[in-house]
Amino acid sequence: MPDLLIHSMSEFSDIILDGLAIAKAEHVVEIGAEYGGMSTMLANYALEQGGRLTSIDPLPKPEFLDWVGGADHVTHIGKPSLAAFDEIADADAWLIDGDHNWFTVYHELKAIDALCERDGKPLLAFLHDVAWPSGRRDMYYAPDMIPEAARHPHDFDGGALPGHGSLVRGRGFRGMGHFAWALHEGGPKNGVKTAVEDFIAERNEAGRELAYAEVPAVFGLGVLFDLDAPWSNALADLVIPYHENRLIASLEANRLANYLTVLDFQDRNAA
Ligand SMILES: C[S@@+](CC[C@H](N)C(=O)[O-])C[C@H]1O[C@@H](n2cnc3c(N)ncnc32)[C@H](O)[C@@H]1O
Repeated sequence: MPDLLIHSMSEFSDIILDGLAIAKAEHVVEIGAEYGGMSTMLANYALEQGGRLTSIDPLPKPEFLDWVGGADHVTHIGKPSLAAFDEIADADAWLIDGDHNWFTVYHELKAIDALCERDGKPLLAFLHDVAWPSGRRDMYYAPDMIPEAARHPHDFDGGALPGHGSLVRGRGFRGMGHFAWALHEGGPKNGVKTAVEDFIAERNEAGRELAYAEVPAVFGLGVLFDLDAPWSNALADLVIPYHENRLIASLEANRLANYLTVLDFQDRNAA
């Protein structure tokens, strides 16, 4: 049976690997490995460059752990991202695909920015899940890890549906016990895209301008980079044709509608 819901960052591998090559990135850091679908591609890229991959994931799947043991130029840090930054130096590029909520992503970006400044590197980050469903709604793998003041009321059972600000019972896109959704979509400090926007606004206000492009496919890929990086024009040329591309966006809306229809069938069968 083919995978009915493609969801890995590896779907964007052409854009990401070309982007890394344009920036001549050697040390790549990945937050969120899961099965290692993207990790293996990043590791192959790093090997060709004589570089390395650091992959941060507190709870990756056994498939990733089996693979990472045999890859000498890959380091796995088995911690949540916000506890792992002290162990990282000289990173050229970042993939952010761990816990998809405002608190985590905003603080990941702040920590990455501080490391880039310390190490004299321009910022280059590829962020997954900047579009529906996590763009404007927090998702929590481990709600207890998020400070109470920053954590939205949430639920492990409710489902997300496009156009429904509240969660729905017994329907929609849901975590089946693996993750929780914020009860409500939208509003301040809610969702991955909101975290990216808040971070960009602060950076730009400080006079350190960032460029941002968004590919509206497979839950959304954000590409965030320093405007004054020596490779920024070349990277912009790569990503601009994809940025908010209307054809890609309508294909994504159709993909989601089809997938949610499959879920509906499955839910009715189960009932
Ligand atoms: C959507 S999956 C990543 C998929 C992978 N990047 C890919 O493209 O195939 C999210 C992963 O993030 C991990 N994760 C959850 N919270 C995290 C955190 N705070 N820091 C790092 N990883 C986290 C989960 O264990 C899970 O394996």
